[in-house]
Amino acid sequence: MDNITISTLSRYKAEKRKFAALTAYDASFAALFEQNNVPVLLIGDSLGMVLQGGNDTLKVTVEQIAYHTRSVVQGAPNALVIADMPFMSYHTVESACNNAAELMRAGANMVKLEGGEWLLDTVRALTQRSVPVCAHLGLTPQSVHVFGGYKVQGRGDAGQAIIDEALQLQQAGAAMLVLECVPHQLARTITEQLDIPVIGIGAGKDTDGQILVMHDILGISSGYIPKFSKNYLLQTGNIATAVQAFVDEVAHGDFPAAEHTFG
Ligand code: KIV
Ligand code: NA
Repeated sequence: MDNITISTLSRYKAEKRKFAALTAYDASFAALFEQNNVPVLLIGDSLGMVLQGGNDTLKVTVEQIAYHTRSVVQGAPNALVIADMPFMSYHTVESACNNAAELMRAGANMVKLEGGEWLLDTVRALTQRSVPVCAHLGLTPQSVHVFGGYKVQGRGDAGQAIIDEALQLQQAGAAMLVLECVPHQLARTITEQLDIPVIGIGAGKDTDGQILVMHDILGISSGYIPKFSKNYLLQTGNIATAVQAFVDEVAHGDFPAAEHTFG
């Protein structure tokens, strides 16, 4: 795979070429994902759930994300590697800068943080200091205890607030946006209105990219498989082929289907 940068993904968006992304936490899976043409890998704080067995992401630390980032970068030198900033590691501009620096030194190409308007100064500060930022709106799992569960966000009138925040985050310098568990019509509007690439999870088929948790596509998540995910190992019986099937279905617009989508 050619070296992937944010410019590559902007080109994909301009060409309306849909791209796949996966979470990755170790070198072996990262290498397999890169070999099978997954351009974007995320060291998600979902590792607090799928690796550590927790029922939320709040216990994950910067040190843990940095550790897994170093492993992923070893395995996938050409993918665009995004590292999640854990809960309360970016609550002030200063803490965000210091913790983002740790993740960039671990080899990340970009950091991701959850939230809207309250983060505009932080996104501006990171961008000005040469840290590319991926924003994350909709169901932001670090806020699960505020939402009262993992619930679809942005239904009805709440959608306009997410549109406004997406535009403000782009204006503040965000280079990418993840939209999680929002109605597909809202995700389409935001993807059309933004110049930066938008990656969806549970956000319908019209975003520029699709991301899933690697354990979910392999059907090995403890507990349940979310509605928006799909077990590709079941239909292929082989991990590399499962990843290829995911990449191909995203490229052809076959994933996500209506059954994986919220209206
Ligand atoms: O932590 C994670 O895996 C994520 C993705 C689901 C977007 O943030
Ligand atoms: Na995350």
